[in-house]
Amino acid sequence: MESLWRKTSQHTNRESLEKDISADTLIIGGGLAGILTAFFLKERGIHAIVLEANEIGSGQTENTTAKITSQHNHIYEKLISSIGKEAAKKYAKANQEAIFEFSRIINERCIDCDFEMRPAFIYSTQKLEPLEREAEAAASLGLPATLIKQTALPFDVLGAVRFDEQAQFHPLKFLYALAQDLEIYEHTKVDKIDKESIYAGRFKINAKHVVFACHYPFLNAPGYYFLRMHQERSYLIALENAAKLDGMYIGLDEEGYTMRNYNDLLIFGGGNHRTGENSAGGKYDELRLAAFSLFPGCREVARWSAQDCMPHDNVPYIGQFSTDTPGWYVATGFKKWGMSTSMVCARLISDAICGIENPYAEVFSPARYKPIASVPELLKDAAQAVKGLLRENLTLPSKTIEDLPRGHGGIVEVDGEKVGVYKDEDSKVYLVDTRCPHLGCQLSWNPDEKSWDCPCHGSRFDYTGKHIDNPAQSNIMLE
Ligand code: FES
Repeated sequence: MESLWRKTSQHTNRESLEKDISADTLIIGGGLAGILTAFFLKERGIHAIVLEANEIGSGQTENTTAKITSQHNHIYEKLISSIGKEAAKKYAKANQEAIFEFSRIINERCIDCDFEMRPAFIYSTQKLEPLEREAEAAASLGLPATLIKQTALPFDVLGAVRFDEQAQFHPLKFLYALAQDLEIYEHTKVDKIDKESIYAGRFKINAKHVVFACHYPFLNAPGYYFLRMHQERSYLIALENAAKLDGMYIGLDEEGYTMRNYNDLLIFGGGNHRTGENSAGGKYDELRLAAFSLFPGCREVARWSAQDCMPHDNVPYIGQFSTDTPGWYVATGFKKWGMSTSMVCARLISDAICGIENPYAEVFSPARYKPIASVPELLKDAAQAVKGLLRENLTLPSKTIEDLPRGHGGIVEVDGEKVGVYKDEDSKVYLVDTRCPHLGCQLSWNPDEKSWDCPCHGSRFDYTGKHIDNPAQSNIMLE
């Protein structure tokens, strides 16, 4: 399934790495965070190379709604209470400045990427009180936020918080334009990295600094990021003949939707769930049903889905990878706000590499993490991991391949062994190992994406067993 952004942009292939190479900075990951970081480093005369395992922008950058906002759903009230008002103000300011930074770069470089300043709204059809509190919290931090009672949505709401000076764009058009002058190698996966050496296949990379901008760090240690966050999925459809809105919207309620226009289309999304917990499927059908009822006569022209890393304390991890690894940096846990956060990341990490003090560094620093403060989330994630491990090790499926209808996937018994199977429309079967190569939890079939997803830390594989999402690094096909 191609995202709207992929369908409406033109990627130019880059060479793979075919030799040993040296650079001041190696950036692992050619998504928006990695490319922006390389861009700022180049502006400052630092030699940076980007290694991308697939194609640039082919991860989360092409699967976003591409809202560039400091409005991050219901967050400021929570941040003030969890990290304090001063730190929350810095979080807000860093993200608001990120919007203006996009605008500056796009204007200065005349980048044609459908960039538009638009207000962003968080709405509710059920509760006014949280909106009142969020509007007050955001305004108290200096953000351009106000409470309103009516919106341009074609259904009644109790209210909304309106953020002015926000933006939206076409993420791949922007990324490809920015990447033009950068040194990038595609289809080049870093598969060995430690303090002594870095390898992509048989080629060695020498670099003083390393930036992990690959969505989810693939090293378990140091850093232990797999203990600090979980991953979620959500689903998007692009609609013709739907509403022309006055800005970008997100719903506060459980049944709330994310919406924005792109030209004459409406992007409409929702259906969040923890990765690995969609065995019943039907997320796109639910979205379609909601869309057809809210916007009668609309028609779907594209659909795609997103994967997001959710940090325990709601603040991304951007900064030094671990105290043991000076010169290594990480950018992860962007939640569902990867556009503005990519800019925050690029500013913070390029400043750190250049030895420039950044006023926001402490707020986003991975060193802030205190396991004791995250006990409820740690316990929730640990319970999830135990469940996944037990399922893999103690249960045997009752179904066989013959029981599986065409076009379906599931876990079946083959010669007394547990095996994951997808049977295509021609009855061709694809067998996979159901044990996640990351830490061994049992994978779960996601019928909406025809993928094998891990409920523990969110690794994913396509129906053939090919690795899609970290932290796992290898494929799972059998035979
Ligand atoms: Fe960690 Fe699967 S992602 S066990």
